[in-house]
Amino acid sequence: MGSLTICDHPLIQHKLTYIRDLNTNTKDFRELVDEVATLMAYEITRDVPLADTQVQTPVAAAQGRIISGRMLGLIPILRAGLGMVDGILKLLPAAKVGHIGLYRDPQTLKPVEYYVKLPTDVQERLLIVIDPMLATGGTANAAIELLKRRHCTQIKLMCLIASPEGVAAVNAAHPDVDIFVAAVDERLNEHGYIVPGLGDAGDRLFGTK
Ligand code: URA
Repeated sequence: MGSLTICDHPLIQHKLTYIRDLNTNTKDFRELVDEVATLMAYEITRDVPLADTQVQTPVAAAQGRIISGRMLGLIPILRAGLGMVDGILKLLPAAKVGHIGLYRDPQTLKPVEYYVKLPTDVQERLLIVIDPMLATGGTANAAIELLKRRHCTQIKLMCLIASPEGVAAVNAAHPDVDIFVAAVDERLNEHGYIVPGLGDAGDRLFGTK
């Protein structure tokens, strides 16, 4: 079973409260999501491997450690995932970014790919799939499946808010994927929205409603 990490740092929880608030305007919403993404990037990279190295300070040789191992790939799910990319890139500027666009077919209710553009060496990278809202888990699962079909083996999922149903769905389908969230809310409502959640993340990020 993949682990579930709730990033409960006071700064994250403070900013998340303003993100939820319907009185927060688009500009502030976008900035707050960006800031929380940066803080969550700190948490999600906690276990990346380090290698010993040596540098010369102006005074003497110093032992140090630098990040080694797999390079990172950020995979935002369109469109709301885009709102978290720049915040993560502030800490991980060398990461490559791949995009996955999925929509739900109204007949089959299954996610359908409409846009996929990934780094050419995607299967060699540690991937962070990004979607602010983990609701039913259908979209996240489809994105992870798509990556696994391309032989990607190291995948983490980063969301702002999850429903218990979404966490269970990803755990069931992809027990190898660790999930990082700022909060797990009460439930999903009959429209597939997370309660209390924050509303439609895409609309709030891009001011489309
Ligand atoms: N997507 C959103 O943007 N919000 C939800 O509450 C659920 C899915």
